[in-house]
Amino acid sequence: MIKINTLTGILLCFFTVATKAQTEKQVIVGTRNVSLVLTVGKNGRIYQSYFGKKLLNAADYSNFVQGRHEAYITGGMEDQFQPAIQVKHNDGNPSLQLVYVSDNSNKKNDNVTETTFNLKDPKYPVEVVLHYETYFNEDVIKAWTEIKHNEKQPLVLSNYASNMLHFDADKYWLTQYHGDWATEMMQQESELTSGSKVIESKQGSRPDIYQEPLFMLSLNKPADETGGEVLAGSLSWTGNFKFQFEIDQSNSLRVITGINPYASEYQLDAGKIFTTPAFVFTYSNSGKGQASRNLHKWARSYGVLDGDKPRATLLNNWENTGFKFDEKLLVNLFDDATKLGVDVFLLDDGWFANKYPRNNDKAGLGDWEENKNKLPSGIEYLVKQAEAKGIKFGIWIEPEMVNPKSVLYETHPDWILKLPNRDESYQRNQLVLDLSNPKVQDYVFSILDNMMTKNPGIGYIKWDCNRTMSNTYSVYEKNRQSNLYVDYTMGLYKVLDKVRAKYPHLLMMLCSGGGGRTEYGAMKYFTEFWASDNTDPLERIYIQWGFSNFFPANTVSNHITSWSKQSTVKFRTDVAMMGRMGYDINVKDMSEADVKFSQQAVKNYKRLSDVIWFGDLYRLISPYESNRADLMYVNEAKTKAVLFNYMLSARYKEIFGKVKLQGLDPLKRYKIEETNMMEGAKSSFADNGKTFSGDYLMTVGLSLTQGRVMPQSSSLIEITQQ
Ligand code: DGJ
Repeated sequence: MIKINTLTGILLCFFTVATKAQTEKQVIVGTRNVSLVLTVGKNGRIYQSYFGKKLLNAADYSNFVQGRHEAYITGGMEDQFQPAIQVKHNDGNPSLQLVYVSDNSNKKNDNVTETTFNLKDPKYPVEVVLHYETYFNEDVIKAWTEIKHNEKQPLVLSNYASNMLHFDADKYWLTQYHGDWATEMMQQESELTSGSKVIESKQGSRPDIYQEPLFMLSLNKPADETGGEVLAGSLSWTGNFKFQFEIDQSNSLRVITGINPYASEYQLDAGKIFTTPAFVFTYSNSGKGQASRNLHKWARSYGVLDGDKPRATLLNNWENTGFKFDEKLLVNLFDDATKLGVDVFLLDDGWFANKYPRNNDKAGLGDWEENKNKLPSGIEYLVKQAEAKGIKFGIWIEPEMVNPKSVLYETHPDWILKLPNRDESYQRNQLVLDLSNPKVQDYVFSILDNMMTKNPGIGYIKWDCNRTMSNTYSVYEKNRQSNLYVDYTMGLYKVLDKVRAKYPHLLMMLCSGGGGRTEYGAMKYFTEFWASDNTDPLERIYIQWGFSNFFPANTVSNHITSWSKQSTVKFRTDVAMMGRMGYDINVKDMSEADVKFSQQAVKNYKRLSDVIWFGDLYRLISPYESNRADLMYVNEAKTKAVLFNYMLSARYKEIFGKVKLQGLDPLKRYKIEETNMMEGAKSSFADNGKTFSGDYLMTVGLSLTQGRVMPQSSSLIEITQQ
């Protein structure tokens, strides 16, 4: 961070730059390639004077005067567009003025610096701290806000954004991601027009099921993978979010990101600090691909639990057995896991509850003891059997939820979110527990803790969440019902904090009836997430493509299943391999050839997974623009790459051009080898086995279609420096 104080002329950090007379103080929040310039105006307010590519000459920053974009606009004052913050004081006054008190820069290590601005209202005892944490090498900035006060009664917060950014471009193009169950992360791009565009969620516990809390914003023209100015951002919050993009009469755009204040006027007690979630963002002037790589790098080192560590391959039983299994069958399935060569067997839903056995989704949720008919010897036996066969045992839980047909419902009706005087409203026959209540938090923690204490050998947890919050009312919140959405998420984090304090490295998959919870607020507690229940490989290419914009490959769980029986196991496998690969299939139903292929595929995956998980991703040809999709991962040393080539469909005699690779070293020579083929199959690529320079591969490219193109076919190409 660079600070310039023209009043004292003191060199506060790295160097000084002469600033314009009207500017009192300029603070540069910077990374290797990005600068955010914040200026303390003469009126004491903080302004965003610049955001974009870092300037070559530090002296040029002196050209930035305070400008007219207050960094964190307060409601009830002069500005007549959407504010970042709006409060109601005890005397009913709905205005807030934030005046600079001090700023501070704390270099946490060589890469991470936190800059804070302390602001206060001159008339009311309300203080706001703006936080900007920079990740120098990743070009990522994390921004959040703290609000506190000392009024007698609670201060009412009706807007409390994490961050506000301003842009002055000719045009703005927004890429957003939306969906539903089985259609997660569909990509849409549109030009922003004057007025407001809002992307938000109101679903509470499954906040990302319809709209995802992430976006890309292109300036001046739509950015593509390799060119254009783009902001990519994501809110780290496992709850309702709101992004507002508002273009004013001067064509200035303000981007406001934070918790959705919908039904959430927050009553904040005196002396308590309200900390907003972080908005994590990066800027690239060389397209979306670079923006994604920045976020992936940040996520692996800072955003995801053990993001830089390997993941496990697994066999899940959900798509195979559903609720119908017993311990004999499960132990038998362990053999299928070892046959495939995976690391973990994951037991899904249906293993628990006795008074109301969990034999379908109508009963048992909340009663987390082993079902005696299905598992008479308990989880302990399964863990031991799995270990004896050389694999780890994993298990599914959905600890935030309850079926009305359960002992938990009967014993603790006050722990459940439901309106006291109205009919209960169900989704998947279940209700949500009240995580704003500390007793419920303890209970939810105890579900996992008891299981792990009794069975320390459990090596993997799938944490599910299958309904949204609606018709909610909390007995615990009493007359503060509008605090509930926020307090629920804070309560969830308290539980997860405890889980991680005690089980810091346990592999945990975040699931929410598919990808209903896919954001970085939760991912700091989880090692991966379930992207979608839709495992049809054709559909999955689009879903995974969407997630690849924001999440590194080792966090995106993909399983080979029988959802689409018409597609080959080879195609399903190649698609699953672009993330964290696993199986959820009846191995006994597979042909001998498919089993042989899969055994080899698991070996190939283990050989290549370091490049896939930790390499740089280059999206080469988008399924949204072509009848094929191509992407590649390149390791840091640029000695090894893996290229995925998916043919979605093809017209008769459709011609596909060469695919130009990216991310290689032009001066190195690389051998091209198709891998992951059915036993006995030969590569049809003319270039297979040949060696080329990186320059040739990136300039001329590879022909990856030969002869008649089969729809829903794929190839996996290993690229190795010679
Ligand atoms: C929804 C998940 O997405 C599925 O994978 C499975 O775990 C079911 N829940 C179990 O009820």
